[in-house]
Amino acid sequence: MSGELPIVIVGGGVAGLATALAVAPLPVLLLCRNADGGDSASTLAQGGIAAAIGDGDDVAAHVADTLAAGAGHNDLVMVRWLCRNASGAVEWLTSLGVPFDRDSGGQLALGREGGHRAARIVHAGGDASGAAVVRSMHAQARAATHIDWRSDVDVDALLLRDGRVCGVRARDINGRQEEIQAAAVVLATGGMGALFARTSNPPGAIGSGLVLGMAAGAATRDLEFMQFHPTALDVADGHCLPLVTEALRGAGARLRRIDGSPLMDKLHAMGDLAPRDIVARQVWRALRDDGRVWLDTSGVEGDLASRFPTVHASCLAHGIDPRHAPIPVTPAAHFHMGGLSVDLEGRTTVRGLYAVGEVACNGVHGANRLASNSLLEGLLCGRRTGQHLSRLPTTPARGQHQWRQRGESLALPALVELRRSLWDAAGPVRVESTLQHALDGELLRNPTGWQARLAKQLIAAALGRRTSLGSHYRED
Ligand code: SIN
Repeated sequence: MSGELPIVIVGGGVAGLATALAVAPLPVLLLCRNADGGDSASTLAQGGIAAAIGDGDDVAAHVADTLAAGAGHNDLVMVRWLCRNASGAVEWLTSLGVPFDRDSGGQLALGREGGHRAARIVHAGGDASGAAVVRSMHAQARAATHIDWRSDVDVDALLLRDGRVCGVRARDINGRQEEIQAAAVVLATGGMGALFARTSNPPGAIGSGLVLGMAAGAATRDLEFMQFHPTALDVADGHCLPLVTEALRGAGARLRRIDGSPLMDKLHAMGDLAPRDIVARQVWRALRDDGRVWLDTSGVEGDLASRFPTVHASCLAHGIDPRHAPIPVTPAAHFHMGGLSVDLEGRTTVRGLYAVGEVACNGVHGANRLASNSLLEGLLCGRRTGQHLSRLPTTPARGQHQWRQRGESLALPALVELRRSLWDAAGPVRVESTLQHALDGELLRNPTGWQARLAKQLIAAALGRRTSLGSHYRED
């Protein structure tokens, strides 16, 4: 690495890796908690990447589906840009060696998921798309000479000089602390689903980067919009639950009530493949009323174990053989549409601080993200931010320095209580009295840990939005 200050990127999922690769030839220091990116939500993504490349499909239809899922709350310029560039993103990943699944004629095999009116999901390893994408990008980034790595570290403070972010404080697993100067800092730290009692996210998705950005004074946007995936594996007392991909419903699986009747019939023209927020609410209600909702996979053609190996393995690990028995499912916090407010280049409202991927909110997903648009967004926005940064001067900032810290973390018992409280108050179905009750409770009235401060902001935003929109559903 040269003597120039590096661009510091925090997070090694798809968005962080895409940014890091695109910053070349400027030096990058990539800080992540896990050496191979294996702890990121990107790695757990099952469905794939949406791209309008099938016969009879087009970019305008992908745009229309993205807007319909997002309840029209989306930034139209961003949506058009995302959908227009999707096929190029798939080509780029293919050139990196991502082994996308193909049909018998050698064409990319396209799956279907909720909210899509066409088969347009490119996937790899059946339902192991995120892992395949991260693996190839990771190998590319490891080989890149402009990228330096620091694994097993957490960033707990940002350095500001003259109102500009110009460094981070990193802590390794032994508590050793390091202050790192940066030309600019990019947060690619993922979402906050794991602050909810039930989530499909990895344990580290607790909004750590979002809080850091907020501590530095960056504006946030749309915090109330948390997407709930309709089908995580309903494991008793589970917190981070295995996902049961929507692609299964795209391949013919059906949601059923406890008495075997179809759950989604007559509720939406797209039935089991209605947008995620609609299906998640129905599953939530049926669980509340009957205690169980099943995903019946008997209509899926071919061998489930080879078409959906990840789901098959996680079911078996919990004593369920999905080839012979229905899968118990529950909604789970899955994707945060809200985050640090950013522009098209990933700039937050604080100079020198950027955000990409789930921690950021550029408005592309509106009030409810369309299935398989998230890896796509992480990839394309990461590259765009990286290209923007590659043109920036890397001169050191001057002036008085000031640390902005994330602050104390909640102790585990309080964290468990917080997750329950967020789920009950700000889950798939929300009412004013429960939201207010959560805000008035001991945990949030005088929040001591940063997780509680973040939860308070989300609940306050949900209370403030009095009408339903997308994933934010006010039953009152
Ligand atoms: C899924 O495979 O059901 C999830 C895909 C996504 O989050 O878009």
